[in-house]
Amino acid sequence: MNNYVKIFDTTLRDGEQSPGATMTSVEKLEVARSLARLGVDIIEAGFPAASPDDLEAVRRIAIEVGNPPRGGEYSKVPIIAGLARANKPDIDKAWDAVKAAAHPRIHTFLATSEIHMKHKLKMDRETVVERVKETVAYARSLCADIEFSPEDAGRSDPEFLYLVLGEAIQAGATTLNIPDTVGYTTPDEYGAMIAGIIKNTPGMHDGITISVHTHDDLGLATANALAGIQAGARQAEVTINGIGERAGNASLEELAMTLRTRYPVFGLETGLDTTQIARISKLVSNYTGMSVQPNKAIVGANAFAHEAGIHQDGMLKHNQTYEIMRPEDVGVNQSKLVMGKHSGRHALHARLADMGHMLSEAELDKAFTRFKELADRKKNITDLDLEALIADEFYRPRDIYALDGLQVACGTMGLPTATIRLRGPDGKIHTHASIGTGPVDATYKAIDAIVKVPATLLEFNIHAITEGIDALGEVTVRVQPKESFTKLDAQHETPYGRVFGGHGADSDIIVASAKAYLAALNKLITAQSEATEAQQHDYGMLS
Ligand code: KIV
Ligand code: ZN
Repeated sequence: MNNYVKIFDTTLRDGEQSPGATMTSVEKLEVARSLARLGVDIIEAGFPAASPDDLEAVRRIAIEVGNPPRGGEYSKVPIIAGLARANKPDIDKAWDAVKAAAHPRIHTFLATSEIHMKHKLKMDRETVVERVKETVAYARSLCADIEFSPEDAGRSDPEFLYLVLGEAIQAGATTLNIPDTVGYTTPDEYGAMIAGIIKNTPGMHDGITISVHTHDDLGLATANALAGIQAGARQAEVTINGIGERAGNASLEELAMTLRTRYPVFGLETGLDTTQIARISKLVSNYTGMSVQPNKAIVGANAFAHEAGIHQDGMLKHNQTYEIMRPEDVGVNQSKLVMGKHSGRHALHARLADMGHMLSEAELDKAFTRFKELADRKKNITDLDLEALIADEFYRPRDIYALDGLQVACGTMGLPTATIRLRGPDGKIHTHASIGTGPVDATYKAIDAIVKVPATLLEFNIHAITEGIDALGEVTVRVQPKESFTKLDAQHETPYGRVFGGHGADSDIIVASAKAYLAALNKLITAQSEATEAQQHDYGMLS
């Protein structure tokens, strides 16, 4: 058996599908580019039947990330997959979205557990088998690379699974993905299920890849995925930061670093450049507004921090006393004192390039202006500050409304008041003053009065990026439109309301708060107009 595990990233599908992780099409494209740079083998770019704008986003990724740059090598380009329920209209949409990629894949699925078949699909076993045969064969008539998933495999009767999977192979599937959809199995059970499938599925041969797809409801997603790989699976479906339905999916960083750190146990390779992990984790967190818990394995803020005196003492004597991986292996740079007020444009360029940010001249100009502003207020600028600055300047959604000025009065002597100046989509300056229960509330009320998109603030998080009183403050928020517009959820086949995240960083925490809120509202407005445009396009195509 070969020793290469293909990494199938589903951040943009299972991850983005989780309420609150909505990304705009531009953000999805940027994440896809970063995934390609990370070296994933397959990018599941979305669920094209969910909404016309999802289809468009997948199509753009297929064109722009799924093809080599001029003169580049085709073999180095990731496969671009689109998800489809097991019906022809969904499969047509998935194919329409991925076909421009150099290596397209259709991923179709149908539930096989009794509970799903009876209550959700209202189909008996025979009908499910027939549907799988028909739809996999149809997908194969369009595309040479077909993945089939028996949804809720973890709770399906193994004998029935073997039968369905055998039919899927016969109809042309080349990858069989085995989802523990509800995160129910234990590692022993999941590993045994994969071994059973490899042994008992009729028609199983070396050309078929078995894939693991695990959810984290019991906190076992990564352990289950690894058990499946040890039992012979050679594709792992994962997401950045483990985002996904409910408690999420197995996280890419945990799986990749386990295979790497415990190589003698697994003896398996991936094609990942793990030094990209910290950056892409931050990117996904900023775009989704879903902050990473500080104690999260590999990418949490404390993952490489040593607090207890006895640990610090050990680390000073030998870093392997308490460290099983090197922070630089996942792209967490340990250098502390990086730059200051007197550092020049060239030094900034070199530092950013070292950190993996290749900026154009115009972008570098902007970054340098922001850097100088920050250096006036903060003595020592660390890599973490630079990451925050870059995220704030370049990874924020398109400015529909941009912050032009903010002044806040607060404290115990009067009513908290915020006066805000925004540049609107018409290029005009809008000014408004509001009072609130505190400075952030006053600022958000003033923004609401100008932007006029009814939305509920669901979550507000603030933290200091580095230690010290002059630290940059980083704010993430999540907002939900009051007039909810919806898209389809692949698993439950019901539409759900979308939640938008925003991120902002500044040495003034009220400014950071305003930026984060505006970023979320800008995303909401962009998504609303993308949805309307795509719908019009759809009607245009149909009429
Ligand atoms: O968890 C699941 O069952 C899925 C399938 C659609 C593959 O995400
Ligand atoms: Zn899933």
